Amino acid sequence: MPNRLIAGNWKMHKTVAAARELAQAVMDAVAQVPDVDVILAPPFTALAAVGEVVRASNIQVAAQDMHWADQGAFTGAISPVMVAELASFVILGHSERRTLFGETDGEVNRKVHAAFAHGLVPIVCVGESDAERSAHQTDEVVTVQLGMALDGIDRHEVARLVVAYEPLWAIGTGRACAPEEAARVAGFIRAWLGRAFGYEDGVPTRVLYGGSVTPENIAPYLAMDDVAGALVGGASLDAAAFGAIARAAAPATS
Ligand code: PGA
Repeated sequence: MPNRLIAGNWKMHKTVAAARELAQAVMDAVAQVPDVDVILAPPFTALAAVGEVVRASNIQVAAQDMHWADQGAFTGAISPVMVAELASFVILGHSERRTLFGETDGEVNRKVHAAFAHGLVPIVCVGESDAERSAHQTDEVVTVQLGMALDGIDRHEVARLVVAYEPLWAIGTGRACAPEEAARVAGFIRAWLGRAFGYEDGVPTRVLYGGSVTPENIAPYLAMDDVAGALVGGASLDAAAFGAIARAAAPATS
């Protein structure tokens, strides 16, 4: 079994100085947590500083997005070459990128290819809106998002990939998805990946749940076989809360 993965998405929060402080506090909070992959995704401006703070620990750093081109006339954008200098993971296709910045599935696909080409592990976010959920379209929406995001990816890359199932209506709302339903969708995603990429005996891809995760509600998600961890927004800005979530993800035997 691969380690569970707990990623904190800081979104557009924290100056460089504040990011250093939070990273140090998270490091202290998770120092004794064994066998969990802990990832922090600060804003681009704080990637280098957070990377320095956590260098001596097993915490890894992620970018929250990136462009697909290596370089060029793309004012305001950050390239995979630049990200790969500072991070080992990159969150791609977060619903806030899709809904607030108009990111398309095609763009997510180009970014996923760029991430693998530069040795970055993409954390690809998928999930349905409230209206799509009410119309019972969750599986269909997730299938289309995955199919487009992963078009042309090979099966070895799929093994490294991380997918985050993040229903839009659960993000930042305090309305977390029921653990049974999150696990059902995570299982659906894993089965789809297995079929699409020829893993008859089960795909090794880790699927996370994201959306209003807290120390209080994390346990039942992690009790589900198909859920390999969590992508945490709001609660990742509090080192004690994030540390408690990471502790909950440690294997019971160690
Ligand atoms: P939340 O955000 O934990 O604040 O709901 C999750 C996310 O957007 O990744």
